[in-house]
Amino acid sequence: MPFIADRLATIKPSPTLAVVKRVSELKAQGRDVIGLGAGEPDFDTPEWIKDAAVAAMKKGQTKYTPVEGTMDLRKAIVEKYKRENDLTYTPDQIIVSTGGKQVLFNAFMATVNPGDEVIVPAPYWVSYVDMVELAGGKAVIIPCTADANYKLTPAQLQSAITPKTKWLILNSPSNPTGAAYTETELRALADVLVGNPHVYIMADDIYEHLVYDGFKFKTIAQVEPKLYDRTLTCNGVSKAYSMTGWRIGYAGGPKELIKAMGAIQGHSTSNASSISQAAALGALTGDQTFLNGWRETYKARRDLVFGLINKCPGLSCPLPEGAFYLYVDCSACIGKYTSGGVKIENDEQFVTQLLETEGVAAVHGAAFGLSPAFRISYATSTEALTEACTRINRFCASLNANGVKAA
Ligand SMILES: Cc1ncc(COP(=O)(O)O)c(C=O)c1O
Repeated sequence: MPFIADRLATIKPSPTLAVVKRVSELKAQGRDVIGLGAGEPDFDTPEWIKDAAVAAMKKGQTKYTPVEGTMDLRKAIVEKYKRENDLTYTPDQIIVSTGGKQVLFNAFMATVNPGDEVIVPAPYWVSYVDMVELAGGKAVIIPCTADANYKLTPAQLQSAITPKTKWLILNSPSNPTGAAYTETELRALADVLVGNPHVYIMADDIYEHLVYDGFKFKTIAQVEPKLYDRTLTCNGVSKAYSMTGWRIGYAGGPKELIKAMGAIQGHSTSNASSISQAAALGALTGDQTFLNGWRETYKARRDLVFGLINKCPGLSCPLPEGAFYLYVDCSACIGKYTSGGVKIENDEQFVTQLLETEGVAAVHGAAFGLSPAFRISYATSTEALTEACTRINRFCASLNANGVKAA
């Protein structure tokens, strides 16, 4: 009898964390490596947010809190949803968890029965599929191509829905593409969903604040109030406030669902860290104007990398509306050879060869369910991004069609 449970059989280790590990190994060997693999902001957490955590510790807020989160934080989340998304919740419709990740995990564990289907538009954030499978469900993956800016179309959604569909995951702006749905696009998807009342919607809005060029972020329950009763609106402080290590995510949704998610959490981690909750309260109730500066920085980096990548032979990517990622099509490089004579058979080999020869780390598209492509995270300095793009260009230019080794 095997010791490890059968449910682990299909679970893959996180490919993004694998890239981060390989980068540290190469750096430890003294290699000059530029990491464009990690999915986290490079800014420090703002000082007043740290101060809120320190003050909480000093006040003795170092004990268990209610499983769903402190009342103060849940009230602040209720206000956030009203202020920014025009959504009305009561505190018992809110749960706070250990990162956005735990919010999603709880939701699947609380609702997915064996054989239930979850529609996952690809390319997708790596954990969705593994989470659905761990919960015993089936991920129904819908490829969304670069011509559609990697967005799900209403026709694709309609044809993916079956009587077994439990959830649609809608992640906007997206990890890994940065694509964000406009209000019009959300309305068209909502029209399909209104006609399919058995489908619940998991709106993963964790990159909500990172949108550029005046893009107006909307979430689906806001666009179509008829979907309010069957939408879980998920968010967190990791990306907007550069608080990935603090581990605070939250969601608003139907009471029955929030209660069930609380039951799962109550038997796994209980409350999210009391100190991190105090910091998140500081983040959500504090001055939000600093985000304008961060957005400007991200936008400048996005424009820089977008311009440089589209000049690389064999690479192309659409201009994303948000997040801090570019999803780069590398199909024209597949089948070519490196100057060392290695044939690039797929996107995993593309990123491996790029890392080994030029010391630039990115994550291959197969990890996100849409190939051949790779993801670049531009949450790093302009200097590092410029140098990385120079190296990527040199790598692409060095590929040849006939397997001739460079002299
Ligand atoms: C799309 C998406 N959703 C959720 C998360 C989870 O974020 P966290 O658990 O750090 O709050 C991430 C993190 O990378 C993400 O990219």
